[in-house]
Amino acid sequence: MISPLKFHDKTIFVAGGTSGINFGIAENFAANGGNVVVMSRSQDKVDAAVEKLSSHGSKSMGFSADVRDYDAVENAFAETEQALGKIDVLVSGAAGNFPARAADMSPNAFKSVVDIDLLGSYHVLRAAYPHLKKPGASVINISAPQAFVPMQLQSHVCAAKAGVDMLTRTLAMEWGAENIRVNSIVPGPIKDTEGMARLAPTPELIEAAKNSVPLQELGSTDDIGNAAMFLSSPMASYISGVVLPVDGGWSLNGAGIMMDSLVKMMSK
Ligand code: HXC
Ligand code: NAP
Repeated sequence: MISPLKFHDKTIFVAGGTSGINFGIAENFAANGGNVVVMSRSQDKVDAAVEKLSSHGSKSMGFSADVRDYDAVENAFAETEQALGKIDVLVSGAAGNFPARAADMSPNAFKSVVDIDLLGSYHVLRAAYPHLKKPGASVINISAPQAFVPMQLQSHVCAAKAGVDMLTRTLAMEWGAENIRVNSIVPGPIKDTEGMARLAPTPELIEAAKNSVPLQELGSTDDIGNAAMFLSSPMASYISGVVLPVDGGWSLNGAGIMMDSLVKMMSK
């Protein structure tokens, strides 16, 4: 029997895959034999990620591109297919976040997050489509609890990520006949990440975050990598269109304590 979590000879493309959660996903696939491609804005981050991924022994490539630039994204997918063939697994996780009240931020601040998270996700999925393996590709959008838990200071992220989950559901319908499965993973508060550094910038806020998770712990990037590999394995061959929280139950609590503490801190 073939191990369901082996990705030898598979091509995995991770948009926004050079740090944090997305890099953790990339590394999990590479450690299980996958040829992994990452793409993000910073050439330095791309180079560092490719070097680490290559140490796992499979092929690795990287592209410096902004998901807001459709032509650059399209070019990355065309070059990927030329070098590594059709894409078996696509992960779309490029995102931006900062805490700010809707009435305090500029229109361009709101637009920047929507352009990266939502329009950028569409660009990635749209440009990847001709290069996805048909049948059989697994597409994963990296969402956030903000998609369905309203949070103060997060109007831009809530609006954008809710849209991302609707892209998941609609494309699961449109692409299902070609046996392309499309799912969202919703990470909870994941330790040692940029996202948490921005929303829980003090030890007190990190403690508050931990306490608001039913499992009483922050998650790890491996927790998200494991879910991504499961969703892209034969074990998940009948799963499409789901929005899967991997959050220790955090979103059941509405993310309350941590965000309430952040609101208080920013009001001082
Ligand atoms: C208010 C802000 C701001 C802030 C930027 N802006 N930071 N407004 N408060 N803290 C405004 C700027 O003034 C500008 O508006 C507009 O946003 C665009 O800013 P730029 O710096 O020009 O944009 P850009 O270089 O494209 O950077 C995008 C970014 C940046 C989102 C602003 O922070 C970024 O690159 N982030 C990527 C990394 C990241 O955020 N990772 C965390 C993801 S975590 P004006 O009007 O002045 O032009 C996540 C969910 C976490 O997504 C959930 C945890 C539980
Ligand atoms: P991160 O390390 O900042 O990851 C964001 C990645 O996206 C980086 O590789 C970044 O690299 C890239 N990126 C950002 N803007 C881009 C753009 N315009 N074009 C191309 N690439 C871009 O943050 P993270 O906290 O790990 O978050 C990763 C994902 O998990 C995001 O989708 C986030 O919404 C989600 N999430 C995080 C948490 C958490 O606890 N951290 C919780 C829920 C959901 P460059 O700077 O080089 O572009």
